[in-house]
Amino acid sequence: MYKKIINNKNEMKDFGYRLAEILKNGDVLSLVGGMGAGKTTLTQFIGEGLDIKEYITSPTFSIVQSYQGKKEINHIDLYRIEDARELESIDMDQYLYPEGITIIEWASRAPEYMPRNKMDIFIDSIDEEKREIRIEGKNNWEQKLIKELEI
Ligand SMILES: Nc1ncnc2c1ncn2[C@@H]1O[C@H](COP(=O)(O)OP(=O)(O)OP(=O)(O)O)[C@@H](O)[C@H]1O
Ligand SMILES: [Mg+2]
Repeated sequence: MYKKIINNKNEMKDFGYRLAEILKNGDVLSLVGGMGAGKTTLTQFIGEGLDIKEYITSPTFSIVQSYQGKKEINHIDLYRIEDARELESIDMDQYLYPEGITIIEWASRAPEYMPRNKMDIFIDSIDEEKREIRIEGKNNWEQKLIKELEI
């Protein structure tokens, strides 16, 4: 189990930049937390850490958006899907078994489609600016991530 208190957006930026250093091609990161927890904000900071110049936001009409930096990020937001089978309308394998990195918001909307190497990072809002980050370490990929974050 890994836990970290993030006191403000600037510390979230540091955390995102650290993840940008650690994440490897093929990794699938799932950000779990309520609305406004900071999932998209953290994704944006990971993108900045990878020199992605575009501003990463959640597209209204598409499930996935890809960005090219030092590594590629596929950003998936499943908040708006009504049925998990909507994932079959796009070629999900290229995102769930990516050549680059995939970051998913609201993966809980389509649990049966998620790959086994998915790493969950939980973000809980404590107050306006303060967040708690938690990684349970329930599979090898999460355990490896925890080890690297603890270096
Ligand atoms: N420490 C912090 N880390 C991240 N975001 C923060 C922090 N403090 C304040 N914020 C603010 O909280 C908001 C987080 O919004 P964001 O869109 O990233 O949430 P989200 O988890 O993606 O929500 P949704 O489920 O609606 O997509 C932003 O307005 C951001 O500026
Ligand atoms: Mg979001």
